[in-house]
Amino acid sequence: MEKNFSAEKNENIIWHSNKVSYKDRCRVLGQRGLVVWFTGLSGSGKSTIAVELEKMLNEAGRAVYLLDGDNIRCGINSDLGFSDGDRNENIRRISEIAALFCDAGIITLVSFISPFRKMREFARERAGEGNFIEVYVSTDFETCRRRDPKGLYQKDIKNFTGKDSPYEEPENPEIVLDTVNRDPMECAGEVLREIERYLTGKGDI
Ligand code: ADX
Repeated sequence: MEKNFSAEKNENIIWHSNKVSYKDRCRVLGQRGLVVWFTGLSGSGKSTIAVELEKMLNEAGRAVYLLDGDNIRCGINSDLGFSDGDRNENIRRISEIAALFCDAGIITLVSFISPFRKMREFARERAGEGNFIEVYVSTDFETCRRRDPKGLYQKDIKNFTGKDSPYEEPENPEIVLDTVNRDPMECAGEVLREIERYLTGKGDI
């Protein structure tokens, strides 16, 4: 299912403007929108950290929502498998959904392997520069294989990331999390501080 992701133009579709702007929505929520994108191997700890971070943000009074690969694949993306083309489509859809959440003023945590650089760049572009924090959960293959929290590494699964399906490491992520020497709460705390810095650094809504 390889697709060309350049904007498809349909001359019969005409953008309709709203009367409520992004700023109007932010004023109601008392915050800006943001996409915090976790990438890394299966079992690297992305979702564990994102779950803790979601709780921290909620308790801090922030409007936050977590989009998690396994969960999203139970619903809107349940028609997709793990070929390169299906993974691209998975990330294309979730990039668009995350951009909408961000535009709604929500702090949107996204936890997907998202193995391809091109598609993570697409996600960044859709969110808009300055609205996107890429978090690389850098746990190495051997550690993920040893931890194997879902028992998937011991199975013989075709197109498994890190085995017979590639993972392209981020080149310039905003944050790299080392889960080998630090626990998930500590990692979540680091991302929380970066989010707060972002939200205060941009000044008044
Ligand atoms: S992605 O590559 O398309 O971004 P995604 O994050 O949605 O992947 O889903 C990954 C999850 O699906 C893994 O955490 C794991 O539980 C499960 N999974 C099932 N098959 C595979 C596979 N072939 N490769 C990687 N993960 C798999």
